[in-house]
Amino acid sequence: MDKISILGGKTLEGIIPISGSKNASLPILASSLLTNEASSLSNVPNLLDVITMKDLLTSLGINITSNKKMLQLEPSNIISTHADYELVRKMRASVLVLGPLLTRYGEAEVSLPGGCAIGSRPVDIHINALKKMGTNIEIKDGYIKAKVINKKLVGADITFPIASVGATENIIMAASLAKGKTLLRNVALEPEVDDLIKVLNKMGAYIKRRNDNIIEINGVNNLKGFSHAVMPDRIEAGTYAMAAVITAGNIKLLNADKKYLKSVLLYLNKVGAKFEYDQDGIIVQGPKIINNVNIKTEVYPGFPTDLQAQAMALMVVAEGSSVIEESIFENRFMHIAELVRFGAIIKNIGFKAHIEGCNKLNAAQVMATDLRASSSLILAGLKAEGKTIINRVYHLDRGYEDLEKKLSNCGANIRRI
Ligand code: UD1
Repeated sequence: MDKISILGGKTLEGIIPISGSKNASLPILASSLLTNEASSLSNVPNLLDVITMKDLLTSLGINITSNKKMLQLEPSNIISTHADYELVRKMRASVLVLGPLLTRYGEAEVSLPGGCAIGSRPVDIHINALKKMGTNIEIKDGYIKAKVINKKLVGADITFPIASVGATENIIMAASLAKGKTLLRNVALEPEVDDLIKVLNKMGAYIKRRNDNIIEINGVNNLKGFSHAVMPDRIEAGTYAMAAVITAGNIKLLNADKKYLKSVLLYLNKVGAKFEYDQDGIIVQGPKIINNVNIKTEVYPGFPTDLQAQAMALMVVAEGSSVIEESIFENRFMHIAELVRFGAIIKNIGFKAHIEGCNKLNAAQVMATDLRASSSLILAGLKAEGKTIINRVYHLDRGYEDLEKKLSNCGANIRRI
């Protein structure tokens, strides 16, 4: 199994090109199930999660060819509506095929994605919304077995109990081919949802985001193919901004869009970072001393849960103590035990982590436990003196494209072994 070795203590300087967004690519790829026309998607990152979604779509009858970061998606006549456990279990976002399959073919059998390391992560919100739109759903043999009651899904007025990103995306896709109008209330405001809406509207859907957290969808009969370039990955950009901060370096995040990083840049500014904005990216200058700043993760536009672990790596070497509160997932602190191996002083009480800043970290052997936790260990390894070995790096490969190359181009001593 691959490991990553880092010789820490280097100041990083250079340019890091930010890849296309993983979390935007996955639902957009699933939307190719909504049409019988060919589509093309560019700026798709080469990541394990994208490969899993491609394998799943291929198993459902979409022919996919790729040329560098450009994917061509061609639906075949034989489309299966069975999303198998073997593929779905690898990635929770696989459940995003449920809405498209159901609305287009009237039935779908999708394996339950199950829990994952960061929490139980149920899909009840997706299921309840589809029921409200006229679907019979039973959970049997580990599968969501769904059948539209009366030929076509019908538009409905749905209020989500939690502004779930995945449920918002799944139900927007389902409603785009439903009969009549759907109103979705308390929807996710994440920009990846808007990238999906852009694609669906290019396909001929009628979807409008109202200011007041409501999305209105008027169902249409058919959708066309699309051509689209995926938005840049704001979580990848935030992670490398923190690499500049923790190494007191200077990194230009090429293609990063400050519009989607407001809460993160505000936080990093309080931490001590300085920014310059170019037409094609953001330049981050890390401070000599990292300030202690409390944070609470929130739904967009609040501070993203997907950057909580990385922020903790910064706070571990900050001057003074800080508190990080996780409000989205119930078990997203597994990186604490690993950060402690570097010498971090962290106490976990419920949803809060109390961190005592210490200005020196020692290199360690650590284990990646989930995708974003892995990147916090990379940050700690870049800072720590000596040789850090990170095990189970396949978690990183799910969400960071060319990580070692991007960091070593900025002077990091990092390699895969
Ligand atoms: C997406 C992102 C993930 C990010 C998360 C929160 C993708 C592919 N993944 O995940 O990187 O960390 O948003 O920003 O875009 N919930 C329920 N029932 C449901 C659905 C969700 O209780 O049916 C709960 C979850 O357990 C969690 C919270 O709602 O506690 C938010 O989850 P959600 O926004 O759905 O996250 P994902 O779409 O899975």
